[in-house]
Amino acid sequence: MEFLTLAKKRCSTRSFKKQAILDTEITSILEAARVAPTNGNIQNFHIYVVEDRDLLAQFAEHAQIYNAPLVFVVSYDKEKIFKSAINANDTGLIDTSVILTHMMLAATDLKLGSVWINYFKQADIKAVLKTGPSEEIAHLLAVGYPNVPFKDQKRHAKERKPLTELVSYKRNPE
Ligand SMILES: Cc1cc2nc3c(=O)[nH]c(=O)nc-3n(C[C@H](O)[C@H](O)[C@H](O)COP(=O)(O)O)c2cc1C
Repeated sequence: MEFLTLAKKRCSTRSFKKQAILDTEITSILEAARVAPTNGNIQNFHIYVVEDRDLLAQFAEHAQIYNAPLVFVVSYDKEKIFKSAINANDTGLIDTSVILTHMMLAATDLKLGSVWINYFKQADIKAVLKTGPSEEIAHLLAVGYPNVPFKDQKRHAKERKPLTELVSYKRNPE
């Protein structure tokens, strides 16, 4: 799909069919994550592919996962993050955000619904997954076959600010 068409097609889906996602589709989404850029190409991330109903039920006690049949949990090791010499940016969070964006767009390309979930408590999800002490849970991405149509691609005219509000140009003088 042409890139801007794909970007405009992507929307948050919050109602999913129960049907499991094909392994080939899961692999495509994971491949999109694998090729994402990371600061210094450090690739300090881990992805849990959670389809286990018991684990999903435990997630649902702590986060709204909209009954999705699959939740990707993306984490990073906070002791191994790329450290800039001149700022203290959390590159673990930045890198995993890029990864999640790749995954969301890959899911959209496969006509799968997805929603990024940031509304969770770190400790709760860590406890469910029994992660190590230095592992930081960065993001959850709920994915599934959508139970509702993709949103109208013309919606951005109203739902997003115009470029005139968002952009300023610093161009060469004529
Ligand atoms: C970093 C981030 C965190 C988000 N967290 C949540 C969340 O916890 N729950 C939720 O329902 N949607 C969440 N969303 C989805 C946003 O609400 C949604 O992307 C935004 O309203 C724009 O709508 P659209 O995705 O349909 O274009 C999140 C999105 C981003 C980018």
